[in-house]
Amino acid sequence: MIWLWLACAGDPAETGIGDSVPADPCLVDEDANAFEIEGVPDCGEPVYAEHCASCHGVAGEGTSAGPSMTEMMPMHADEQVLFVIVAGTGDMPGFELEQGELAHLLAWLREGFGDYAPGR
Ligand code: HEC
Repeated sequence: MIWLWLACAGDPAETGIGDSVPADPCLVDEDANAFEIEGVPDCGEPVYAEHCASCHGVAGEGTSAGPSMTEMMPMHADEQVLFVIVAGTGDMPGFELEQGELAHLLAWLREGFGDYAPGR
């Protein structure tokens, strides 16, 4: 009985099981920090929707509770944006997000609202 089980178990790496399941692009190396992780905009969108849209608007247009992302993103370097998200500022609370969530969120904000453009 035990021999039969051993013969069938095999090494999962060799069976090919799981080969057809695409890797989730939102999963990241948990030991990396947000600056080392290549953020994926599509993975940041749900993070924004959950934590930021209530004040900054579903499309980042701003509300009475928070300024427009179109205006804010060109004014802030990546370090400043991540610092504000983690620490909060003024009436904005800080957020406890995973490093991967931060990287994805930043990628989504940059794609939608532009790069840092000081002086513009
Ligand atoms: C409770 C409402 C609220 C939520 C939720 C919120 N913000 Fe804000 N946010 C604000 C307000 C208000 C300001 C302007 C703060 C100030 O200058 O006093 C602001 C400012 C900012 C700025 C500009 C920082 C600065 O120094 O002017 C960025 C970038 C930003 N928010 C990003 C985010 C992101 C990303 C999220 C989601 C993780 C988020 N905010 C969630 C209210 C909010």
